Amino acid sequence: MHANDVALLGLDISTTGAKALLIDAAGAVIGSATTPLHISTPRPLWSEQNPADWWAGMAASIRRLLAEQGVAGDRIAAIGLTGQMHGLTLLDGSGAVLRPAILWNDQRTGPQCDEIRRRLGKARLIQITGNDALPGFTAPKVLWVQQNEPEVYAQARHILLPKDTIRHRLTGDYAMDKADGAGTILFDLRARTWSPEVLDALEIPAAWLPPTFEGPAITGVVSAAAAAETGLAAGTPVVGGGGDQAAQAVGVGAVEPGIVALTLGTSGVVFATTPAALIEPEGKLHAFCHAVPDRWHFMGVMLSAAGSLQWYRDSLAPDLTFDALLAEAARVPAGSEGLLFLPYLTGERTPHPDPLARGAWVGLTLRHGRPHLTRALLEGVAFGLKDSFTLIQGAGLGSIGQARASGGGARSGLWRQILADVLGVELALVNTTEGAAYGAALLAAVGAGCYPSVEQACRAVIQVTGRTTPDPAAVARYADLYPRYQALYPALKEEFRAIGDA
Ligand code: XUL
Repeated sequence: MHANDVALLGLDISTTGAKALLIDAAGAVIGSATTPLHISTPRPLWSEQNPADWWAGMAASIRRLLAEQGVAGDRIAAIGLTGQMHGLTLLDGSGAVLRPAILWNDQRTGPQCDEIRRRLGKARLIQITGNDALPGFTAPKVLWVQQNEPEVYAQARHILLPKDTIRHRLTGDYAMDKADGAGTILFDLRARTWSPEVLDALEIPAAWLPPTFEGPAITGVVSAAAAAETGLAAGTPVVGGGGDQAAQAVGVGAVEPGIVALTLGTSGVVFATTPAALIEPEGKLHAFCHAVPDRWHFMGVMLSAAGSLQWYRDSLAPDLTFDALLAEAARVPAGSEGLLFLPYLTGERTPHPDPLARGAWVGLTLRHGRPHLTRALLEGVAFGLKDSFTLIQGAGLGSIGQARASGGGARSGLWRQILADVLGVELALVNTTEGAAYGAALLAAVGAGCYPSVEQACRAVIQVTGRTTPDPAAVARYADLYPRYQALYPALKEEFRAIGDA
């Protein structure tokens, strides 16, 4: 890098690692460093991390990145933050963390979700926040601490999300972005700010919630203490950033209606930008603020997408590479000769919010071999993602012109073709592959004045590098099979419950 070049830093605190990514103002990646993180499961259904580990990991990643790339802290024009959404961090009046953070994939708060619906009414809750109460979200976690750890709750004075605890350590400020704010379900989706009605109903003091900012807005600057720990320059601006899904969407240029971000990681996410605060009246989709000012988004989350393929390979074909498995599956015709797969290996979120749902192959005959099992699995994940697509289209968004695919699963040409055929939409690959951290760095570039808007930043730096178009014959075959797939969950739901109890 030339000494005078401007650099932007994106920081992503995910469940698996603390990642620091440097890009230049033209969007080219300079380098990245990641420190691994681990989840603790002190009891069944619990999922926690220690915020002190987040900061130690992130500070180490920043120091290593600057050293490896030979970049001085004062070359960085702005910093953007992103990270796992919904995780509850409680701090006392002095800013000390009170207990381990309760993460997005923690499942302990079923009773608190029922109570939130009871106190507000489900319809009113969805009307205000855009969402039903799910155990993953932040609000039921606050209630859980209120009810189960009153001595901790009595000391609480601040509520932050994972990336905002990094912000607090970097700048000393309590602040949050609008995307993560909405993910707490303490937020008025239309007003893009905290909802007094929800806070009152849940008896959560409004003073505990930080001010919220749009993704590219500057929330504070790096403190002298944080500069000493990280190698950053004191005074470097930090922007709002966004929860990981919103930042991921920015990172692939899904910032305008009509372009959907399709992420095929362990989980599968369908993310669609909306021009207004649209909601799905039953709360079957998540509806949050985007990290783009004055934009919102719908989102459907499948819990085991590429995670299904990973499990299958590891447990049933450990000696085969993914490439070998997928090459076999490519020889099987669309529809896997009447074999269907349900991808609910870790329960499900969209469209069936059911932790007890299970995976299944349905329709096995002697004709079916491993290639059919593999192909049916890829198709089952695609059908599950179509459920989210269908809900999004039905909730007033209209036609979807293109889906931008990212994540490990999107590397497979076969899976991309199956997705294009099942969803009936063009699937595009883009030149950016650094995920949410890249989106956070782009938000920082806008905050630093390198671009006038997030949309213009995305148009300037993100290009489509490949397209997969739907094949009409396969589209027709999958259109016939989709209702058969959709009929399976309702037919098996009670059996899944009973099997779980057996
Ligand atoms: C989004 C969600 C996950 C987490 C994990 O609603 O729960 O994407 O943010 O990273």
